[in-house]
Amino acid sequence: MKTHSVLSTSPIQKVHYQGFDFYVKRDDLLNPYFSGNKARKFAYYLEHISPSVTKIVGYGSIQANSLYSLAALAHLKGLKFDYYVDRIPPWLLNSGLGNYAKAIELGANIIEKRFLPESDKKTGLNLDTLMRGFSQTLPNTSLFIQEGGRSVSAEFGVHQLAQELADFISQKRWIERYSAVNIMLPAGTGTTALFLQSWFKKQQLPINVLTCACVGDDTYLEQQFSELKVNKSHWPTILPTQKKYHFGKLYAEHFKQWKSLLDNTQIEFDLLYDPAGWESILHYVKNSGDDSPIIYIHQGGLIGNETMLPRYRRKFPDLF
Ligand SMILES: Cc1ncc(COP(=O)(O)O)c(C=O)c1O
Repeated sequence: MKTHSVLSTSPIQKVHYQGFDFYVKRDDLLNPYFSGNKARKFAYYLEHISPSVTKIVGYGSIQANSLYSLAALAHLKGLKFDYYVDRIPPWLLNSGLGNYAKAIELGANIIEKRFLPESDKKTGLNLDTLMRGFSQTLPNTSLFIQEGGRSVSAEFGVHQLAQELADFISQKRWIERYSAVNIMLPAGTGTTALFLQSWFKKQQLPINVLTCACVGDDTYLEQQFSELKVNKSHWPTILPTQKKYHFGKLYAEHFKQWKSLLDNTQIEFDLLYDPAGWESILHYVKNSGDDSPIIYIHQGGLIGNETMLPRYRRKFPDLF
């Protein structure tokens, strides 16, 4: 596994889709181990883990891309890795698929929340709350990483992404030719979108970061922003999604969107975030009258498709 390629510049590809031009920032091509935005969010740790650390401790969804990327980070650095989840679904245990199986191959120790010290059915505490408490009890030799890499340390790598985007925009002379430039990326914790927007604001560049909430609603996303940056003028613009989606659930229209993108652009996007991202940005370009150029950031996540596709095939066989 090589680290030097993690941080090299990713290409930008022009596509024509549903009558509009989009520029796709191919962060999915950055590195096979640190898919897309994980390469950006965890770049800091590639260079800055203290030598006294012996273990990485993380938590989140069993399907999360960060599970695999953290396992890769630990493997690369010769560290142990404990990752806490709500539960491990029996079908996944021996499937050999997706982020879960690949993380185990890299030595991840995946632990259900019932094994956490404060876990007690009666308290009914969720994983996030349990981990907040548990992280306080960890020794200095453990490096605790927030769910989805939501942390100020993510700013380090996201700024490099911002710089690459600004360089491209400057080469295209878009700032001289248009009143603004739009960057679109769907949000989970919103960390990537937030640090991008705040960097452009600090550089006083007329670059608007557009996003949409894929995990929870807009209020949840704003809550996530406020935990990292209090200055609201540095927050991205949240575009509405067409209906209330539940993260990780399967929607026929999402699969159709994903398939149509694949057929028309020959780019495979992720099935968890990108269908909602494209739906929102297409609605925006068709209805806003804003003709500024748009760069859509492909944030990787394709290993997750290995488990999403069989689920879609089981639920909507007619779509295949
Ligand atoms: C493929 C993909 N897209 C989007 C996101 C959302 O990123 P963020 O949590 O920074 O909003 C993630 C999660 O990190 C992801 O893996």
